[in-house]
Amino acid sequence: MDSEQLRAQLGSCRFSDLRWVPETGSTNEDVLALARAGEPEGIVVVADHQSAGRGRLGRSWEAPAGSSLLVSILCRPDLAPADAHLVTSAAGVAAVEAVRQVTGVVVRLKWPNDVVVERERATRKLGGILAESLLDGGRLGAVVVGIGINVNWPSEFPDELASIATALNHLTGVPVDRELLLVRFLQGFGHWYDQLGAPGGRAELVTRYREECQTLDHEVRVELAGESFSGRAVGLTEEGHLLVVPDGATDPRIIVAGDVVHLRQR
Ligand code: BTN
Repeated sequence: MDSEQLRAQLGSCRFSDLRWVPETGSTNEDVLALARAGEPEGIVVVADHQSAGRGRLGRSWEAPAGSSLLVSILCRPDLAPADAHLVTSAAGVAAVEAVRQVTGVVVRLKWPNDVVVERERATRKLGGILAESLLDGGRLGAVVVGIGINVNWPSEFPDELASIATALNHLTGVPVDRELLLVRFLQGFGHWYDQLGAPGGRAELVTRYREECQTLDHEVRVELAGESFSGRAVGLTEEGHLLVVPDGATDPRIIVAGDVVHLRQR
C-alpha cells in the first residue's frame, strides 16, 4: 500500500496526513521541523530506516531497514505543559491495543514509555516512545510523539540487545503486517487523544494505562537525575505519575519523570 491508500484506510482519523519515506535521519527531527514551521496537527512521518534515530535520555534508536515501525506524529494538544505526558500515555495505550488487535500477542507498558512483554520472569522491550515538546511562551505549542516498534527483525538481535529486546515476528513466529499495525495504532491513538479533551476522558485514559501497566506490583529501580533507589511500584496517581514505596519505607514517593528498571521477580 502506498501513502495514498493508507490515508484512505485511515478515513476520518485525526492523524491521517501520512508521509512514508524510505530513509531519513530521525522522524522526530523531521516532524519537529514541520512543527517549528507552523504546520498543523495531523502530520505523520513514517520511515523504513533512520540513520540517526533518537531514543529517550539521549540514547540512539537503531533498527535494520524495514524491520520496524518508525513513526512520528505532530500533535497540538490543548493541554498545560505539565500534562503533556498524557499524550505519551495515549500513544502507549494505543500501541498495546494495536499490537493485540493485529497479532493477538499480549504486550504491556513499562512506565512511562516502553512497550514490553514479560517472558520467563524477565521484561523484554518491544518498542519505545519518545515525545518531544515545543513550548510557545508558557503554552504547549506542539508535542511530537515518536514511536518505534520492533516488527520484523532478523532472527538474531545484535549482542547488546539480545537479552533485553524482542520483536513481534519473534513472538508470533510469522512476519507481521507493518501497515496494518500502523493503521490500527493511528486509529487508537486518535481515539485516546480525543479523550484528553472529553469530560472524564483523562480519568478513563489513566484507568486504561493502569490496566496495561506491567510496572505495577513490580520491584523496580527508579533512576532520577542524580539519584536512584529501589522499591515496589504500587500505583499510578490520577495524573499518571508512578507511586513507588522505597525499600524500607512505608509511604510511596510520587515519580513524575524518570526511568524505571524492572528488577527480576522473586
Ligand atoms: C525509547 O528510548 O524507548 C524511545 C524510542 C523512540 C524511537 C522512535 S523511532 C521513531 C521516532 N524517531 C526517532 O528518532 N525516535 C522515535
